[in-house]
Amino acid sequence: MPVHAKAAICRGNSEPFAIEEVTLDDLRPDELRVRIVACGVCHTDMAVRDQQVPVPLPAVLGHEGAGIVEEVGAGVTAAKPGDRVILSFNSCGDCPSCDIDAPTYCYNFFPHNWSGARTDGSATLMLNGEKLNANFFGQSSFATYAIAHERNTVRVPDTAADIPLERLSPLGCGLMTGAGAVLRSMKVRAGLPIAVFGAGTVGMAAIMAAKIAGADPIIAVDVNDERLAMAMELGATHIFNGKDDAAAKIRDLCPAGLGYAFDTTGINKVIEDAWGLLAPMGVCGIVGASNPEDNLTFNEAAFMGGGRRVMGILGGDSDLESFLPKLIDYHLKGQFPFEKLIGYFEFNQINDAIAASENGSVIKPVLRMSAET
Ligand SMILES: NC(=O)c1ccc[n+]([C@@H]2O[C@H](COP(=O)([O-])OP(=O)(O)OC[C@H]3O[C@@H](n4cnc5c(N)ncnc54)[C@H](O)[C@@H]3O)[C@@H](O)[C@H]2O)c1
Ligand SMILES: [Zn+2]
Ligand SMILES: [Zn+2]
Repeated sequence: MPVHAKAAICRGNSEPFAIEEVTLDDLRPDELRVRIVACGVCHTDMAVRDQQVPVPLPAVLGHEGAGIVEEVGAGVTAAKPGDRVILSFNSCGDCPSCDIDAPTYCYNFFPHNWSGARTDGSATLMLNGEKLNANFFGQSSFATYAIAHERNTVRVPDTAADIPLERLSPLGCGLMTGAGAVLRSMKVRAGLPIAVFGAGTVGMAAIMAAKIAGADPIIAVDVNDERLAMAMELGATHIFNGKDDAAAKIRDLCPAGLGYAFDTTGINKVIEDAWGLLAPMGVCGIVGASNPEDNLTFNEAAFMGGGRRVMGILGGDSDLESFLPKLIDYHLKGQFPFEKLIGYFEFNQINDAIAASENGSVIKPVLRMSAET
């Protein structure tokens, strides 16, 4: 019996997302069918809508899904029917990066996450009998059901049985990326200063992780004062509005320079200011989606002389199986209170949720697709 689902279809930025009925393909051996309970809205969904990221449209987006497994293919061991799961990005499992548990840098990232289909070209979703672009981040969770994979499905540990899935859903991208950037990519050391540019989901997760790592001071920069106030609540020791020459204020505060600068804005001027503040051996991590034509310039001598480094970061270097349970653990201990970032919306309010993200009124919108039980 074919499984039908309601899915939000993105046709670009000239029209709103439209919820329509789609049909799921039969499962392959490494796939799971998940009844989606909730899915976070990430800025990267909008980057695809605006075609800054080359995912073919129309498509079903959504890559922070969480739900209950309904059926699994013969080769699946990650979860079984009835399990509560979080979905994240997909990877091949068989390339030089996957071999060293660095799947965010999978050599085959594109076909597994952004091609709109399975790697063999087959469609996971059909619309009115025609192939529909889906399998976005190996899930396409802006839908009531999703086909996920062995490698991008993480079972929620029993210790988190009391935490609702709708709260856990954003762990699969934005939160994991910010926290992982600090704890895994840049490996922030205790006692060194860090500045986080952009206090959205990714930046806030980085700030909470910087506190866990013992960075000091922890500086948040944003152009939204409410977000800066929240950053302070989550661990920032200093906040500066980006409209008021934040770079000069950071230089005054940390005359020896920053151990770490983390940019989530993707804005050239902000990134160039950020790395201009680095101390010797300082690391500048960049994660923001930017215009594909954007280029950055830097002074060779300044970088070489001080052993400064710029690091592109995807997914916070997360190894899903170990890092997501670790983040849940921090959450259970009260060290990662990301629930403060979330605003909930019903699935049919998806366009309101996106607007709330873009106008800055909600840091992390989460869509509710179905009740957990
Ligand atoms: N590389 C990855 O793996 C990865 C993963 C998730 C998200 N992303 C990208 O990271 C970026 C951040 O994601 P997010 O969900 O936190 O987005 P967001 O829009 O919630 O956060 C961006 C923040 O930057 C602030 N900002 C804008 N202009 C600024 C300026 N001039 N100075 C300082 N702050 C400024 C905004 O007010 C906002 O709070 C997005 O571009 C997203 O696509 C990348
Ligand atoms: Zn994302
Ligand atoms: Zn790989």
